[in-house]
Amino acid sequence: MKKFCVIGNPIDHSLSPKLHNFWLKKNKIEAIYEKKLLEEKEIPKLIESIRKSEINGVNVTVPFKNSIIPFLDSLSSEAKKTNSVNTICTEEDKIIGHNTDIVGFELALRYINYDVKRKKALIIGAGGVSPSIILALKNMGCENIHLTNRTYEKAEKIKETFNDITIQKWGDIPEFDIVINATSVGLNKDNLDLDLNKFGNNKFFYDVIYNPGETNFLKEAKLSGNKTENGRMMFIYQAHQSFALWNKVLPKIDEETIEILK
Ligand code: ATR
Repeated sequence: MKKFCVIGNPIDHSLSPKLHNFWLKKNKIEAIYEKKLLEEKEIPKLIESIRKSEINGVNVTVPFKNSIIPFLDSLSSEAKKTNSVNTICTEEDKIIGHNTDIVGFELALRYINYDVKRKKALIIGAGGVSPSIILALKNMGCENIHLTNRTYEKAEKIKETFNDITIQKWGDIPEFDIVINATSVGLNKDNLDLDLNKFGNNKFFYDVIYNPGETNFLKEAKLSGNKTENGRMMFIYQAHQSFALWNKVLPKIDEETIEILK
């Protein structure tokens, strides 16, 4: 029986097993998908298990999307461009890193018909998923991208790859149309120490987090009269692409799929 898993730390919040096991069953594929809480030092052992085909595919989440890279044999062009891997698979005995977060975010915005052309975007957070959000926005024609991160140097590091973005100091909020929380803040009911009152209203607030379904970031934004969206559809679309890479099947995304994640 094939075995898949998602690695991360924390990992409790992950709904990947629920979604993948649902699709595996629907498509009558004999396999199991689990979640694994991992420490950085356990990465080599995980890679060894992939080499031995004890594990057939892995999803990577916070905080390993970048730190997993040196352990892989090669990267897809998207993973290379973003220095970020969320999906690992094997091809002819090589362990390959892919990035399906980019298309996940693109399709999530298309799903709600949000057009980013001529819009100003602000991304909060310069962690593992941020380069994917930037690349997706650029692919969709957004030319005005601002990035802010508590640790300024990490935002500067991302600017080395995407040199036309603007870095804002933490707490300096520029004019924007869409703001995206790409930090891990909110996974544990915690708060960003940013004054959301400075953000104005009639804006679009997007949170990459999908569990909890409404972070404090989105709750407060909604109370101030903004449009909000969580990361559920991004999560589904990135999983959809991972599933296709591993199983060569594109499962259905229907009401039932969306419902099981609520
Ligand atoms: P990594 O930081 O190892 O890339 P990540 O989980 O992908 O891991 O990224 C976490 C993101 O959430 C980072 O942008 C982090 O900011 P720092 O770079 O300053 O650490 C952000 N983050 C985590 N906790 C935060 C907090 N309490 N306030 C603001 N940002 C926070």
